[in-house]
Amino acid sequence: MKKVLVSNIGMLATPKGSAAKCGKSQGEIEILRDAWVLIEDGMIAKVGTGKCECAEGAEVIDAGGKLVTPGLVDAHTHLIFGGWRQNELGLKLHGATYLEIQNAGGGIQSTTNATRSATEEELRDKAAKALDEMMGFGTTTVEAKSGYGLATEHELKALQVIKDLDEQHPMDVVATFMGAHLVPAEYKNDRAEYIRLVCEEMMPAVKEQGIAKFCDVFCEADTFTMEESRKILEAGLKYGLRPKIHADEIEAIGGSVLAGEIGAISSEHLIVCPPEGIASMAKGGVIACLLPATSFNLGAVFAPARDMVNAGVPVAMATDFNPGSCPCLNMQFVINLGCLKYKLTPEEVLTAVTLNGAAAIDMADKVGSVEVGKQGDLVIWESPDLDYICYRVGSNLAKTVIKKGVIV
Ligand code: NIG
Ligand code: FE
Repeated sequence: MKKVLVSNIGMLATPKGSAAKCGKSQGEIEILRDAWVLIEDGMIAKVGTGKCECAEGAEVIDAGGKLVTPGLVDAHTHLIFGGWRQNELGLKLHGATYLEIQNAGGGIQSTTNATRSATEEELRDKAAKALDEMMGFGTTTVEAKSGYGLATEHELKALQVIKDLDEQHPMDVVATFMGAHLVPAEYKNDRAEYIRLVCEEMMPAVKEQGIAKFCDVFCEADTFTMEESRKILEAGLKYGLRPKIHADEIEAIGGSVLAGEIGAISSEHLIVCPPEGIASMAKGGVIACLLPATSFNLGAVFAPARDMVNAGVPVAMATDFNPGSCPCLNMQFVINLGCLKYKLTPEEVLTAVTLNGAAAIDMADKVGSVEVGKQGDLVIWESPDLDYICYRVGSNLAKTVIKKGVIV
């Protein structure tokens, strides 16, 4: 058995449990001082304070009196894409909006063109580099969506790349099928046919290959309507894909209401989420997965996170890493924005980027907290306490990242 002792932890900060936390309990975390964590064969075997009497034969990782938290969970990324879209920055600086660029054939469509012409190997190498970078910032589990293929062959190609990365890279990578990211140019005049293709050709193939856990749809003005989104998510359910939804990112057209009605595991973005959307999510037990770095990049307002906490909706936070609305993969920036823009407390933010993120991708029994029986995924921070990593902006404070008991 391989034993690893993470010793000399000045502050161990972690939420607890195997389900999402909401309301007051979102901010109730455990803080231990002078702590240690024993990891056996990649799993947390014991957590304690003071002297550890059970570490015989263990490899010791000295935390140097610093802060230790669970590895961060990035529960929303569009990891698999060809090219970048830095050209859109200038267009935006000249006043073009995200939807104007999309409607003119830029945006998701231009990344789709680049992704279709990339080989599986090119996509894998590029995404692996992004995963390396994410780990360097403290992320140990990510969700990754397809959605830049928008044709059966290319959606399956992206999902295959995600599966390979999950197997080959130390990161845990959880797959979401997002064939309904945009109606591609070739179906512009027959959107019903594209939706049929998503539901009747792509979904059965995804199920047969067993390469996705969730189904997501971009429910947005000029993209997929609320009724189209309902149809797509209901079809996904038939194929065992649990619903997720991009809702209220730019315009509120009913996505968050639908999330509650359909019992989605999570609803994402929610930048302009109306009160009836919050009420529907609370009723339907939906996790709000908020993406503050996207608001930052779009120059948009920030989601009403406090209203969600007050309404008993569990709040998770993730990057939304993608080449358009959020070319940022750094969860530490998300942590900063959670405090500075959502006005969540450091304790609420920690829960959002660990346990609640894990719950949003159905991984809360395995990751998201430092507790016996969970994976040995930890970050040792160049920081004395939790407040410090929330308040320092722009530095990388992840000192040592440990995945399943191994320094990565
Ligand atoms: O979450 N909103 C839809 N999808 C991404 C953006 C995709 C893109 O711009 O390429 C998002 O913001
Ligand atoms: Fe997204």
